[in-house]
Parts: sequence; C-alpha cells; structure tokens
Amino acid sequence: MLTNPLTNPLTKNIRGPENVATDIARYEDNGGYRGWRKALQLAPEEIVKRVQDGGLRGRGGAGFNTGLKWSFVPRGEDSPSVKYVVCNADEMEPGTFKDRLLMERDPHLLIEGMAIAAYAIEARTAYIFIRGEYALAAARLELAIAEAKEAGLLGSNILGGDFSLEVHLHRSAGNYICGEETALLNALEGRRAIPRAKPPFPQVSGLWGKPTVVNNVETFCNVPHLIEMGADWYRGLGRGEDAGSKLFGVSGKVKNPGTWELPMGTPIREIIEEHAGGMQDGLKLKGFLPGGGSTDFLGPQHLDLPMDYDAISKAGSRMGTGTIIVLDDHTCPVGLVLNLTQFFARESCGWCTPCRDGLPWVVKILQRIENGEGLPEDLDLLREQAARMGPGNTFCALAPGAAEPIQSALKLFEQDFIDHITKGCCPYL
Ligand code: NAI
Repeated sequence: MLTNPLTNPLTKNIRGPENVATDIARYEDNGGYRGWRKALQLAPEEIVKRVQDGGLRGRGGAGFNTGLKWSFVPRGEDSPSVKYVVCNADEMEPGTFKDRLLMERDPHLLIEGMAIAAYAIEARTAYIFIRGEYALAAARLELAIAEAKEAGLLGSNILGGDFSLEVHLHRSAGNYICGEETALLNALEGRRAIPRAKPPFPQVSGLWGKPTVVNNVETFCNVPHLIEMGADWYRGLGRGEDAGSKLFGVSGKVKNPGTWELPMGTPIREIIEEHAGGMQDGLKLKGFLPGGGSTDFLGPQHLDLPMDYDAISKAGSRMGTGTIIVLDDHTCPVGLVLNLTQFFARESCGWCTPCRDGLPWVVKILQRIENGEGLPEDLDLLREQAARMGPGNTFCALAPGAAEPIQSALKLFEQDFIDHITKGCCPYL
C-alpha cells in the first residue's frame, strides 16, 4: 500500500496490516477533519461546486458526477426542511472488497466525507447502511461516530456553530439488492427491499419522500481532501481523463491479489502485472472482468487500456467498482459464469419477471452445459435470454448487470461453450 498523502489521500493513514487510524487523536494528528473544518467556513453551494469542478465520479460503480448529483437537491425557502445523506456501505458486488478496507482501517475518513456532504446539501441526519457481514467495520464506525460527537465534530452545534448533524449506523439484514439505492432506502424505512421507479431520483424524493443523497463509501472518502486541497489538485491526481485516485483491486489466480490506491487512468496491465504481481506460474491471462462480477469480460488485447470510466465503456465493458476479476487459462469460463449467475439468481428480489424467472433459467442452461449435457441450441437460448434481461426490460440494474458476463463470455469464449457441448464434459476438469 502506497501512503504518500499528496498522491494517496484515501490510504495515507493506512500503513501495513496492523496500522489503523481508528482513533480520532491519530486521525487528527494526520490532518483529519481539516476538510470538515474548512467546509464549515464555506457556503454549502461552494462545496457542491468544488466537488463538481473536481470531477469526482461515484465510486459505487456507475461513475455519476458526485457534485452534479448533490446539485439536484432542492435548495432555498420553498425546499423541504428535512433532507438526508445516506452512505451505501452494502458492498456485495462479487470480487469487490475496497469499501471494507476504508471502513475498517480509517472510519473517520468516511464520517468526515459524509459530514461535508450533509453540510453541502443542508441535511441534519445521515445514515450509514452497512453490509451485515461487515461486523468489524460496523464496530469501528460506531466507535468513530461516538468519538467525533464527543469532540464536537458531530451532534448539536458543531464546533460551536449553527450546523448540527446526527450520523446513524444501520446494519443490513443481508441481500445484494439492498445495494441498489432505492431498494436500500426501502430497507432503511423498514419496507421490503425492492427498487423504486426512477425518476423521481432520491435527490428529489428519497428517504421517507425527502431529498436524499446516496453515495458509496469510497466516494465520500474522496471528499475531505478534495475540499481541503481544491478541485485542481484533485483533478491532477488522475493520469488520464478521470479525476482523482481510486482503490483498484485484483482477485483470481495472480501472485499478489489485493487492493491498492492508484491514480485514475492507471493502465490495467500495470495493475495486474505490477501491483498484483502478474499471473501465478504456469498460468496465462485469458480474460478479466474489469469492475466486479456484473461487468463484461475483456481480453488480453485490452490490457493497455487505462482504468477510466469512458475508456472501459468504449471497449465494451464498464469500470464498475474498479475491482478486476482475472480469468486464467486453466479455469473454466463456463463454470465462472455459472458461479456468478447462481449468485445473481439467488440475490434477485423477485420483483420483475426477467430477473426473477430469467436468471434461474440461465442457471439451468449453464449448469447443463457445464455438466456436459448441453444442447447445440443452448447458446442461442442463452443469448436470447441474456438480451431479455438487458437494459430497459427490468426494474433495476441487477439483471442487466448479471447479463453482462454471460453475453461477453459467449463472444470471447464461445469455443469453450462449444467444446463442453461437443465433448460432453467440462474440458477443464
Ligand atoms: P445509475 O446509473 O442508475 O445511477 C447512479 C447514480 O446516479 C444514482 O445515485 C442515481 O440516483 C444517479 N443518477 C443517475 N441518473 C440520474 C439522473 N438522470 N438524474 C439524477 N440522478 C441520476 O446506476 P445504479 O443502478 O445506481 O448503479 C449501478 C452500478 O452499481 C453498476 O455500475 C454496478 O457496477 C454497481 N454496483 C455496485 C455494487 C457494490 O457492491 N459496490 C453492487 C451492485 C452494483
């Protein structure tokens, strides 16, 4: 883990496995809450503008401009007096383990970012909706919230001023769909976690019908330094088109799987070969999912692409969460896609038909191909079904996301599917 505060603002407090900045004194000694103190001297609109000018894009996976999102929250005398900030800490995307690192190792950074967001949109209440299994992160966040309150940085009349903010931690009961922002809001309200229709977007009508900003953990963690150091500095952290630094991760059969803070725009080859140490001995890279399990496979020909939202989109995939899942030449692509689809089928909320019924159907077809019992017409059936689960046909992004590795695997690894069918077994066994 690199720790230069000027180039690694997200991880500057995290040095080695034993070193965590969970106590407020250490956090403040390292410059913590300076962004919050500075924000309180600025007009809320100025903060929104700075975040927008900084070009910070949402790190949950979609890459929406954060300042632009905040700017949609109604302001002024006629706007609702109650507004909310919600942190989406329900990190469940397959292969994604970046927010956990931030919450476990530097919980005050998240709280500071959320406080600045709340002040910027004039919210007095904020919630952290955290994945149920993240027990250590939840415990450390609870401690950090109490410490920040004790220090007058949260609670009533923060640092003697007019602004007050309460931050609450809510543990999820556990379902992937709770990470979809409107299902998350339903869950927080105690309702069944199903997505809501958008529009209206939460910025206008969110938690209990009030204007609400929902952002990912890593997104909030970018805010304190952006406010402290300014938009130009933040933009300059990126190596390519996109601004800032990012936690990139690699899993799969590489020598050194893990998470690293690197400039946006770092080439994929550098992440896999230098930071993750390259492929394990005797294995070759066959393909990879650039941003978690719900993205399209790319191949070795894409290794020199920069990890930028638009560059990865142009290549036919998405940067998603920026956590790369590597597929090697000794692992069965059909088995990998089956494993992912089983996960997405199990996690469907069941609200709309293409997702509820389509995903289990795809699992059945993939399972029979993997078992060596597939039929030649199964490939067209899979393509047809994946298209039916595509954008515009479902209520939220779950099924379209699940369709991405299926469709792209059928393009990139078609011969592997055919071999399973013609040989009557999995050739990788
Ligand atoms: P989206 O593109 O619909 O929305 C992204 C954000 O921008 C939302 O907060 C939304 O309110 C806002 N937004 C989008 N269009 C807007 C508009 N016209 N006006 C106002 N606000 C607007 O994407 P979605 O469905 O929220 O997220 C999908 C992403 O989530 C995928 O890219 C996937 O990679 C990622 N994901 C991440 C997971 C994780 O564990 N981190 C889990 C599952 C999915």
